[in-house]
Amino acid sequence: MAIVTSKEMFEKAYNGGYAIGAFNVNNMEIIQGITEAAMAQHAPLILQVSKGARSYAKHVYLMKLIEAAVEDAEQSAGFDLPICIHLDHGDSFELCKSCIDGGFTSVMIDKSGESFEENIRVTRQVVEYAHDHGVVVEAELGTLAGVEDEVNVKAEDSSYTRPEDVQEFVERTGCDSLAIAIGTSHGAFKFTAAQCTRDANGKLVPPPLRFDILEEVSRRLPGFPIVLHGSSSVPQEFVDIVNRYGGKMPDAVGIPEEQLRKAAAMSVCKINIDSDLRLALTACIRQHFAEHPEHFDPRQYLKPGREAIKAMVEHKLVHVLGCNGKA
Ligand code: G3H
Ligand code: 13P
Ligand code: ZN
Repeated sequence: MAIVTSKEMFEKAYNGGYAIGAFNVNNMEIIQGITEAAMAQHAPLILQVSKGARSYAKHVYLMKLIEAAVEDAEQSAGFDLPICIHLDHGDSFELCKSCIDGGFTSVMIDKSGESFEENIRVTRQVVEYAHDHGVVVEAELGTLAGVEDEVNVKAEDSSYTRPEDVQEFVERTGCDSLAIAIGTSHGAFKFTAAQCTRDANGKLVPPPLRFDILEEVSRRLPGFPIVLHGSSSVPQEFVDIVNRYGGKMPDAVGIPEEQLRKAAAMSVCKINIDSDLRLALTACIRQHFAEHPEHFDPRQYLKPGREAIKAMVEHKLVHVLGCNGKA
């Protein structure tokens, strides 16, 4: 059975010093680009669905498309592609329950914006229901800067995870993995220019991740899988294409790949990527229309977009996450 929870994936990733890529999906081309990359690299995969993706595409469409990807891998490559289907940033027990009842194998309950006690209370409620149904749960402590789903979290409101809280939180909730805040941030504009320095070419260099916090969390939670949200690298070649062909993304900046590699070699078992997929697709479409203004068939511009996503995901699986060949 290729639709699995992340339990075994995380155990192997933790012991092997690599991480699993968790990619957000919204439509068929994105799902195909990611799963074709995972097939080519024999990599285990987490496909995650936000509340927004669920209302854009509908739960049943995304489920069936993911099931189709698994079937395609089996038929076309004879490969049992392990995929975990995960709810990203679930904001209520009811949403988590609906995804569990609808076939997801993993859910995130994100009450990181609430008090410590309220976060524990709701997370515990989700864990009880999920575990009764064979589903695993990711929770979050600490607040990322940037945009979390529909909620705007201002950069100055970001608060790093307090390592002294993590043991009690994990023990009292029974969660299976924990997202922590060590300086990553959602979206394609992760840091303001004022938070960065500039390199010789004038490109922004973001402040380094707080590896001291990650180390302390890992020391307090030995063997426990840690998750990083907001981990797109915002490749400058795509930003440049967007800006060259009529877009406007000045000073878009992401997390440097070498820092994500370092985190993957530590206790980080799941690395979330969404913005880079959007960026690759948008850059391709902008370039396509600039070069072929007469085109109006969606297949003509979605196909190169899907190929760009596949190439980018393959690069991440091999050079950032290190999970190629691990399926
Ligand atoms: O962390 C948030 C994800 O990137 C989901 O974004 O709500 O626009 O689907 P979305
Ligand atoms: P990015 O915006 O950096 O891709 O982060 C995605 C994410 O954390 C989804 O939950
Ligand atoms: Zn996130």
